[in-house]
Amino acid sequence: MSLITWTKEQFGTNVGVHDEEHKAIFGSLNALHEVAAKGDRKAVGAQFDQLVDIVAKHFASEENSMSKHGYQAKETHKAEHDKLVKTCLDLQAKFRAGQTEITQETTAFVRDWLTQHIPQIDRTYGPLFNSKGMS
Ligand code: FE2
Ligand code: FE2
Repeated sequence: MSLITWTKEQFGTNVGVHDEEHKAIFGSLNALHEVAAKGDRKAVGAQFDQLVDIVAKHFASEENSMSKHGYQAKETHKAEHDKLVKTCLDLQAKFRAGQTEITQETTAFVRDWLTQHIPQIDRTYGPLFNSKGMS
């Protein structure tokens, strides 16, 4: 069973490009959740790297939309992004050094972050971006 499932009701921002990015993140996170259960360290590391990469690209994409459209809360929104990226990069470094493992606790943490951030924070850009022609 998937760890997280995208539905319009729970996660829709009304901005198609960012919804698609969120769906891709969910796919990557679900894949990590599955490999983490099997305990193949190399596969876990590769899947975590992929997740961190698409999350970082997504944040840059949202921040680019924010700058382009004059979103007022960009700094506080970006601060949330930066905090998650830092947590992930720290974990990646520790994992590579053999000091920690990436487990289903890790994937649950990321799921919880997304479950808060997308509905509560991302959704606030929908009306502004829609008014600027993003749908
Ligand atoms: Fe987002
Ligand atoms: Fe965001």
